[in-house]
Amino acid sequence: MPETNRQIVLDRLPGAEKLQPGHFRLTETPAPLPGEGEVLVRTRYISLDAANRAWMQGATYRSALQSGQVMAGGALAEVVDSRVEALKPGDLVWADTGWQDYAVLPGRRLSKLAPMQPETHLLSVYGVAGLTAYFGLLECGRPKAGETVVVSAAAGSVGSIVGQIARIKGCKAIGIAGGAEKGRWLTDELGFDAALDYKDPEFKRQLRGLGGIDVYFDNVGGDVFEACLFAMNLHGRVACCGALSQYDGAPPPHGPRGVPGLIVTKRLTLTGFVVMDFDDQREKALAELKGWVDSGQLKVSEDIVEGLENTPAALVGLLAGENRGKRMVKVR
Ligand SMILES: NC(=O)c1ccc[n+]([C@@H]2O[C@H](COP(=O)([O-])OP(=O)(O)OC[C@H]3O[C@@H](n4cnc5c(N)ncnc54)[C@H](OP(=O)(O)O)[C@@H]3O)[C@@H](O)[C@H]2O)c1
Repeated sequence: MPETNRQIVLDRLPGAEKLQPGHFRLTETPAPLPGEGEVLVRTRYISLDAANRAWMQGATYRSALQSGQVMAGGALAEVVDSRVEALKPGDLVWADTGWQDYAVLPGRRLSKLAPMQPETHLLSVYGVAGLTAYFGLLECGRPKAGETVVVSAAAGSVGSIVGQIARIKGCKAIGIAGGAEKGRWLTDELGFDAALDYKDPEFKRQLRGLGGIDVYFDNVGGDVFEACLFAMNLHGRVACCGALSQYDGAPPPHGPRGVPGLIVTKRLTLTGFVVMDFDDQREKALAELKGWVDSGQLKVSEDIVEGLENTPAALVGLLAGENRGKRMVKVR
């Protein structure tokens, strides 16, 4: 049995400041022991998500984080000791472990996962990122072959999969990402038809040059959302997945212009969703994603940072655009 547990604590909430590694601290405590109905798990890979920062702003689909608590986060973990019938040492689970080596959780809050190689795919394409891309695009965006699909944060974990699924469905896939290098990666490595750099002063003109957007998969909100709204075609659909541009730092001075006017005149449909809304279709989605990965139509991009102690810097880096594909931290 383990004796000590390293934990990363959210020492101070960032408020309207940009998140820094200094908002966290590393501590060591005795490793916890499971009680009746509980399971001790060892964290293997921590999933890093833009939403980790949003949880510091207030309640979302989970309650707001408080300073002094172990930083929250989901992880791929291994059962070490179990006081429930359904789980045995060595089993792999998806668990809300937080940023620490070990966690004790009620057995009912753990999802047992079938082992696979590489096991990191359980956090990327077969985890929240892949399922969010799949359901957000296909159920909310409802693309038809030949249509133009635009996705923001396109080189990130969700976006990189959205554009590839759009291509698989016969659509033209345009990615919006920061910098020419990421754009080249999207077109040359992942097969996007084109990429636009939202930091380029010519961005809005280039966006208008696309000839109209049928489906916009919005990961970022803010100015990029507004620019896409103005470029939508009649009866276009917007899949509202997240508002990453608003998570880190002070809120923007104004909301997006064109709302509700453009929604009316262009007869747009905006659909907000949370991936859990589609839990009943999960198995079907995973089977389809697996088929695309196995046939080579869908490339999986993972960005793995080593060491629990590097988790705060890795999240700060994700918010600054360091990652390509799904960022996660290998704990052990
Ligand atoms: N609805 C759901 O169920 C659900 C589930 C999972 C995730 N999400 C949402 O999906 C989105 C993607 O999250 P993720 O965790 O997968 O992160 P990610 O896309 O892997 O990484 C974030 C990327 O966003 C870009 N970015 C950062 N600041 C930006 C800004 N101000 N404007 C435009 N782009 C910016 C950065 O790349 P650049 O270099 O391109 O700036 C960065 O690499 C988030 O909005 C998240 O909340 C929603």
